[in-house]
Amino acid sequence: MAHTKITPQISGVGVLNPNMRVFDIIMKTEYGTSYNAYLVRGCEKTALIDTVHKDYIDYLFANIKEVAPDVTIDYLIMNHNEPDHSGGIAELLDYYPNMKILSSKTGSVFLKDIINRDDYVIETVSDGDTLDLGGTTLRFVHAPFLHWADSMFTYVEQDKVLFSCDFLGAHYCEPQGYDHTVVYQKEFEHAFLGYYEAIFSPFQKHVRNGLDQMKKLDVEIVAPSHGPILTKGCFLEKAVSRYESWSTPVVREERVIPIFYCSAYGNTERVANHIAQGIQQVIPDAAIQKYNVIEHDVAKLAKIMNESDAFLLGSPTINRDALPPMHILLAHAEAIGMAKRPVSVFGSYGWSGEACKHLRNRLSDLKTNVYPDDFRVHFIPSEQDLKQAVCHGQAFAQWMLK
Ligand code: FEO
Repeated sequence: MAHTKITPQISGVGVLNPNMRVFDIIMKTEYGTSYNAYLVRGCEKTALIDTVHKDYIDYLFANIKEVAPDVTIDYLIMNHNEPDHSGGIAELLDYYPNMKILSSKTGSVFLKDIINRDDYVIETVSDGDTLDLGGTTLRFVHAPFLHWADSMFTYVEQDKVLFSCDFLGAHYCEPQGYDHTVVYQKEFEHAFLGYYEAIFSPFQKHVRNGLDQMKKLDVEIVAPSHGPILTKGCFLEKAVSRYESWSTPVVREERVIPIFYCSAYGNTERVANHIAQGIQQVIPDAAIQKYNVIEHDVAKLAKIMNESDAFLLGSPTINRDALPPMHILLAHAEAIGMAKRPVSVFGSYGWSGEACKHLRNRLSDLKTNVYPDDFRVHFIPSEQDLKQAVCHGQAFAQWMLK
């Protein structure tokens, strides 16, 4: 976003990053991204909504200067303090030493250790507070867990513009910055969905709260912190409707209990098959799919795991540990949504058999509800072992139904 005019008082002054392909180390961004920041000018005061990644701060300054060469930033409104938005604060404070920073109370706790300036006091705003810039009024709307605990929206009453931070955003980069200027619509909508899934899907209840907050306001423009600005009559209504649909809990008729495993010589796989039989005997209508993790895309498996009612993990032991694909799968677990999820671990081993222990430890750290007894088999499962694997499946199913 190279200084996009939104209204006479509001300009986008953020920065485009079309070449980004991975965000925060793990999130693929095949369409690049933008770090959106907005200048809001009243008759008396000027506010900047959010900053940009620290590597792009010079471009932010250049855009501010181009829009308003002699402007002084009186207020920096930090809707959310993840470093892609808070990275430029130190330089801004150096340049505008009298600038006041406003954030939610939680945001102020984060900012204290982002700014690291003992003599600087961050001002906090409560839900519903307003700030008059002189004919232009900012209203602050707390939006916790959209997607951090500190998140809030800022609304400009006169212009009906909502600065929603990450909410309704997308890692998508085109030069003009608006929904109605998007050239590659299909790709934008793909990015919009991917962003929701990666950032907001663990926070469905909060997404619905955020949409409710929006409905109380007369919003004609949503200016997010990434991707195109959304406007009424173009993509805004579709965006809201999609968030409503995506955040509505899915009511399933059947319990989904996937089993994920690795198997070097087929032993752990045979155990998986027999555990599945045991579960099915207790819960006949359960959907029990088995996945050899090396045969599937990890992102797809992670989605199945994260949306399951319960799941099991099986791994042989190599080098005193579970195999790396199992740890990689668990690295994709959505920790918040996974709390108390019934889980169990199993595996065949040759020497010491630590795989189950390590999977169990990770699952415990994720605060899942780990079945007390792991199911381990030494080398090749005998007929007796396989009968016991069925019993393990039965016992797990009975335990999770309690
Ligand atoms: Fe775009 Fe949550 O930072």
